[in-house]
Amino acid sequence: MSHKWGFVILFFSVVCGIGAYIPHRYHFFNENKTWSEAQTYCRENYTDLATINNMREMKKLNHTLMKENAKKAWIGLQREGPGKWQWSLADQTFYRDGDNYTNWRSGEPNSVGDNPYCVEMYKDDGKWNDGNCLNSKFFVCYEEKNTITNKYVVINETKSWHDAQIYCRENHTDLISVRNQTENDEIWKVINSSVGGVWIGLFNDSWKWSDQSNSSFRYWSSNKTSGGLNCSAVSESEKRYWSDVDCTEKLPFICHENKLILVKENLTWREALRYCRNHHHDLVSVRTEEMQLWVKEVAQNASTEHVWLGLRHTCALGFWYWVNGEMICYQDWAPGNGTGFEDCSHEERTGAVQSGGERKWISLPQSKKLNFICSTYEDLFY
Ligand SMILES: *[C@@H]1O[C@H](CO)[C@@H](O)[C@H](O)[C@H]1NC(C)=O
Ligand SMILES: *[C@@H]1O[C@H](CO)[C@@H](O)[C@H](O)[C@H]1NC(C)=O
Ligand SMILES: *[C@@H]1O[C@H](CO)[C@@H](O)[C@H](O)[C@H]1NC(C)=O
Ligand SMILES: *[C@@H]1O[C@H](CO)[C@@H](O)[C@H](O)[C@H]1NC(C)=O
Ligand SMILES: *[C@@H]1O[C@H](CO)[C@@H](O)[C@H](O)[C@H]1NC(C)=O
Ligand SMILES: *[C@@H]1O[C@H](CO)[C@@H](O)[C@H](O)[C@H]1NC(C)=O
Ligand SMILES: *[C@@H]1O[C@H](CO)[C@@H](O)[C@H](O)[C@H]1NC(C)=O
Ligand SMILES: *[C@@H]1O[C@H](CO)[C@@H](O)[C@H](O)[C@H]1NC(C)=O
Ligand SMILES: *[C@@H]1O[C@H](CO)[C@@H](O)[C@H](O)[C@H]1NC(C)=O
Ligand SMILES: *[C@@H]1O[C@H](CO)[C@@H](O)[C@H](O)[C@H]1NC(C)=O
Ligand SMILES: *[C@@H]1O[C@H](CO)[C@@H](O)[C@H](O)[C@H]1NC(C)=O
Ligand SMILES: *[C@@H]1O[C@H](CO)[C@@H](O)[C@H](O)[C@H]1NC(C)=O
Repeated sequence: MSHKWGFVILFFSVVCGIGAYIPHRYHFFNENKTWSEAQTYCRENYTDLATINNMREMKKLNHTLMKENAKKAWIGLQREGPGKWQWSLADQTFYRDGDNYTNWRSGEPNSVGDNPYCVEMYKDDGKWNDGNCLNSKFFVCYEEKNTITNKYVVINETKSWHDAQIYCRENHTDLISVRNQTENDEIWKVINSSVGGVWIGLFNDSWKWSDQSNSSFRYWSSNKTSGGLNCSAVSESEKRYWSDVDCTEKLPFICHENKLILVKENLTWREALRYCRNHHHDLVSVRTEEMQLWVKEVAQNASTEHVWLGLRHTCALGFWYWVNGEMICYQDWAPGNGTGFEDCSHEERTGAVQSGGERKWISLPQSKKLNFICSTYEDLFY
């Protein structure tokens, strides 16, 4: 893969419970392309146009764009399809399927008025209403670091929804998210003394990530929330907040590359190893619990019951090792696998992860034909 104009930013996302984001790295390209040309380039040579999942990733990206002196660069967010309600704090535990909590006042949301894309909580009954994002209201921030009693911070200032979001992210963690009735009551209690309604972190938009991931993380400049244009870029003139841009403009761009890739072809272990080394980096080595969580996430989309890992047994010496030459430290074997005697009478044993159930490791003869997981680059952080 050519890195002629590329500049590589390498890092890992934070794990936050179920649905942690697969680690990836960004590549900046100082070539002018339209948004779709850039998308094609990124999909062909990497994973996709950049997805930004949280503040940590945004800070890394900002830092590198500054070093590269990039004025404006495409990211993977595009306006598409109907809108949906999502939380400002893009931690997937806030909108896990099946337990989405809402507390709309009856008849809401009714999409009445200008920009009815932001949500306020009424002080009189704690119920919600969709309101004009540009209205100035008091707001409640979420403070991750504090104890249970003051994780909700009511700000004694009025701001538009977007400026409230910027304020909360700079001074606390984010605008407040509400996951259940208990939390709603707690927040309602702390806003009781304020005037009218307060902004909470729920908003409605129709922006989608090019790689189909569902991260609700947004970082719009307060000046550029509804310019009506359908593609998005990070721009220096907006202090590297995001702004909407005409998709046919020609700009430099940022691709991202996922660390792990599931190959849905049925190959023997040796063929899979050769495939990964020719097309990517290697068969995946799972050296930490974090990596195993990501492997489980990827493995569940396989078409075979088991999925090859870079795990290999040596009959001559009687132990398991990773193909990249490392010893096995972290392990997640299914009961009866990996730790006892291996049947070496016919062929070498190799290791796979189950694609369903507990998704633990099992020992299999290497001639089985399975899907497999490649790593796409060497990680320097272990
Ligand atoms: C991209 O276009 C801008 C504006 O037209 C121009 O200033 C810049 O030099 C171009 N960059 C490259 C790498 O061609
Ligand atoms: C992928 O990268 C190669 C080399 O940098 C480039 O020639 C090719 O055009 C790229 N693919 C697309 C679809 O742009
Ligand atoms: C908000 O999202 C819903 C889908 O959840 C959509 O049907 C509705 O039209 C959106 N409302 C607005 C005002 O965009
Ligand atoms: C929960 O929210 C997510 C994200 O908006 C949505 O995709 C999902 O369908 C919702 N689930 C339920 C049960 O409402
Ligand atoms: C909020 O600020 C106003 C002045 O801006 C002040 O009079 C008021 O006491 C403040 N309220 C609280 C609860 O701090
Ligand atoms: C953070 O809080 C300080 C003090 O209340 C305030 O002056 C500043 O404007 C806040 N930051 C943002 C981005 O609003
Ligand atoms: C409400 O959500 C919080 C955070 O997920 C959780 O700790 C708490 O137990 C939940 N309460 C109820 C009654 O579900
Ligand atoms: C809010 O304040 C009113 C009086 O101003 C009081 O009657 C009500 O019980 C309070 N509600 C809560 C949830 O504390
Ligand atoms: C919004 O625009 C004003 C004037 O153009 C500028 O001074 C300000 O920095 C912009 N705000 C942001 C967050 O980019
Ligand atoms: C990017 O970094 C610069 C310099 O540290 C800072 O002024 C700017 O606010 C940052 N922008 C974003 C979007 O984080
Ligand atoms: C791989 O094997 C599975 C299970 O036998 C099968 O469902 C799938 O279609 C096969 N995939 C390919 C690409 O042959
Ligand atoms: C390895 O684990 C699988 C799945 O739990 C089980 O069916 C198999 O019997 C185990 N192998 C041995 C040797 O116990």
